[in-house]
Amino acid sequence: MEIGWMRNQRQRQVLVFFVLLSMSGARAELGPYSVVEETERGSFVANLGKDLGLGLTEMSTRGARIISQGNKEHLQLKVQTGDLLINEKLDREELCGPIEPCLLHFQVLMEKPLEIFQAELRVKDINDHSPVFTEREMILKIPENSPLGNAFPLSNALDLDVGSNNVQNYKISPNSHFRVLTRNRSDGRKYPELVLDKELDREEEPEISLTLTALDGGSPPRYGTAQVRIEVVDSNDNAPEFGQPLYKAHIPENSPIGSLVVIVSASDLDSGINGKISYTLFQPSEDTSKTLKVNPMTGEIRLRKQVDFETVQSYEVDIKATDGGGLSGKCTLLLQVVDVNDNPPAVTMSALTSPIPENSPEIVVAVFSVSDPDSGENGKTISSIQDDLPFLLKPSVKNFYTLVTKRALDREERAEYNITITITDMGSPRLKTQHNITLLVSDVNDNAPDPLTVYLVIALAAVSSLFLFSVLAFIAVRLCRRSRAASLGRCSVPEGHFPGHLVDVTGTGTLSQSYQYEVCLTGGTGTNEFKFLKPILPNIQAQDPGRNSEENPSLRNSFGFNFQ
Ligand SMILES: *[C@@H]1O[C@H](CO)[C@@H](O)[C@H](O)[C@H]1NC(C)=O
Ligand SMILES: *[C@@H]1O[C@H](CO)[C@@H](O)[C@H](O)[C@H]1NC(C)=O
Ligand SMILES: *[C@@H]1O[C@H](CO)[C@@H](O)[C@H](O)[C@H]1NC(C)=O
Repeated sequence: MEIGWMRNQRQRQVLVFFVLLSMSGARAELGPYSVVEETERGSFVANLGKDLGLGLTEMSTRGARIISQGNKEHLQLKVQTGDLLINEKLDREELCGPIEPCLLHFQVLMEKPLEIFQAELRVKDINDHSPVFTEREMILKIPENSPLGNAFPLSNALDLDVGSNNVQNYKISPNSHFRVLTRNRSDGRKYPELVLDKELDREEEPEISLTLTALDGGSPPRYGTAQVRIEVVDSNDNAPEFGQPLYKAHIPENSPIGSLVVIVSASDLDSGINGKISYTLFQPSEDTSKTLKVNPMTGEIRLRKQVDFETVQSYEVDIKATDGGGLSGKCTLLLQVVDVNDNPPAVTMSALTSPIPENSPEIVVAVFSVSDPDSGENGKTISSIQDDLPFLLKPSVKNFYTLVTKRALDREERAEYNITITITDMGSPRLKTQHNITLLVSDVNDNAPDPLTVYLVIALAAVSSLFLFSVLAFIAVRLCRRSRAASLGRCSVPEGHFPGHLVDVTGTGTLSQSYQYEVCLTGGTGTNEFKFLKPILPNIQAQDPGRNSEENPSLRNSFGFNFQ
């Protein structure tokens, strides 16, 4: 019992000593030893016997053994020789991670007598890992027109190796915009930074793809790569531009409201809102804004109100394209209105003689003018009357016509003529206007009366003459008597003088009429208004119509009209 206690007590003492010894650190130090990681199993590290100054067999007799940290059998001791060997391949990265130096602590324990030696094995790094980017693709959004020298940090690559075997350098694939700098982080790691060397233009190159390479310091260096995609962010650096500076368009007048005139189109190199274009009419005149409208989204220009060639023949207006960033561009629209034959000719009667005295030579019975507001062929006119009538249409000055008799008319043959003046324009389709006039033929006493009438007329004339003579004789006798009584003087009968052309030569109560007129036009003003029409009474015989028309056919025509 006593002995048992004593033994227990002694064991406890040994244990306490052992614990104290291990806690107090090495009583003696061995090493340091070092081995390169990944060295094959069984490789020699050191001869501990030699290092401890022990004889060849002493290691074995003293019961030497290795105590490893955490009971890992990284090393083995050949007690016969005292050689310390690698028991298993050592992976520095697994054992120490990023910690450098990587030290494995172990003890050499001698049991007889008890002795402990502290030792450490340094596991040296070899370059057995390549740099790896955790982000295999990096996307960078960089505004175009960023200032030169701007730096854009990128994610670094990781390398399990340490020291110079870790990442030392970054490189970027050749490009014209960026270079890469290798920067030090506070923890010693190195990270890449892109530096802008040449301005970015999204419109030229919206996206740039680069290969980033991380290199470690091994020999030869190991490397890892990642893709860097740079998306150039738009800034509103482009104004909208029209496909053409001038748009020419034609549209027939009276095209329906809403008719498409033209589609203008501008483009803007910027993207998003900076490239979104809206169209407006730029400072349109009141006329234009009433006539044209533009679709702000599509650039379609359509008719708002109708166009009328006779009112406005062309429109010129600027169209503005504005992008979402407020930049704008302009173009000009030249719109020609094309005439359509939409106006029939019009007739204006200037003078009309009716009734026409029968038996007159060729005379003018009507003067009229023709107008058509359309232009070109649409405004050219042809005038005609029925061809079975004894009348002729003759063109006169400008757009005037005269209607003349072909020959002397005979009231007894036909007393009334319905004349249809037809005016047709040359447009397509042809438009026609008709104007109806009725001409009466007045009677002139050109027929011999029947015998009974002749006798009656003679008798009436005789009676009238006799009566007149009697009255005159009576007055004469009375006057002679009175003067004879006064002074025995002479006797006279008064003579009457009457203008021949006003005498009622027929005795039927009609006066002979002059049918020659002077037409006065306000020449040269372009209005061709009829000013007045006055009869030229005295000179029917004095004028030779044929000769006058030869002298000046256009101004004094054969029908006795003087155009002044
Ligand atoms: C980064 O650190 C290395 C040493 O690790 C040093 O030689 C170099 O000058 C440093 N570079 C910068 C930019 O600080
Ligand atoms: C002329 O027209 C009128 C009606 O406008 C008609 O009464 C007359 O008979 C016509 N005269 C001739 C000769 O056709
Ligand atoms: C003119 O007279 C013609 C023939 O009588 C007739 O057909 C036409 O309708 C008339 N035109 C007008 C405008 O009165």
